[in-house]
Amino acid sequence: MATRTRTGTTARARSTSSGTRRPAAAKTPKKRNEDSAFSFGKGNGGALVGVALAGAAIGMAANYGRKLLMQGMEAQAGDWDEILAAEHDAALALFDKMLATDATQSFKRKMLLMKLTHALDKHAHQEEMVVYPALRSANEAHDADMLEGEHGYVKTYLYELGQMAGDAPGWLEKVREFRSMISKHMHMEEEQVFPRFKQGLGAEQNAKITSLVNRDGFWMA
Ligand SMILES: [Fe+2]
Ligand SMILES: [Fe+2]
Repeated sequence: MATRTRTGTTARARSTSSGTRRPAAAKTPKKRNEDSAFSFGKGNGGALVGVALAGAAIGMAANYGRKLLMQGMEAQAGDWDEILAAEHDAALALFDKMLATDATQSFKRKMLLMKLTHALDKHAHQEEMVVYPALRSANEAHDADMLEGEHGYVKTYLYELGQMAGDAPGWLEKVREFRSMISKHMHMEEEQVFPRFKQGLGAEQNAKITSLVNRDGFWMA
């Protein structure tokens, strides 16, 4: 867009300078400014840009506040492993709400699936970008790779449910299967992999992982 505007301006400036009505050479720079990509016309263009920028700033601040609120609530949960365990519980509660629906509640099912997708996406990001790499650094690559591979199947379930109609006959069975799979994954993290890994961490390393999990969760909230 910017290139086209600049080219158009140059073409217009050339045709003006070759015309007979005005010398144009001294006017050309002013004309170029008026046609800048940030100009919305004469007079109130600057004000319009100001309003647009102020609107964008308010939107960004609101989103920042929302993220702060959402992640702030989780940040109080404690260490990284406690934060992740609280997210496991929240996700399992969403599964239970889904399992309590019937085929007449197609819209509710879609909404719950959307919430679950967002929650699991954020959770997987925190584990895949912080915890699993830290596990690999601590010679726990086997567990990290296995757990990350299981995240692939979590996404597959989300994809399959996303393709199903909310009132499809197999919907509940698919959710039940998904819950059982993810619950095993969560238990393995909470009861085996995370405690073993945490035992070998110093206080400083532990605090660093907690801070990174919080930071990652903040951007994904
Ligand atoms: Fe996981
Ligand atoms: Fe997890």
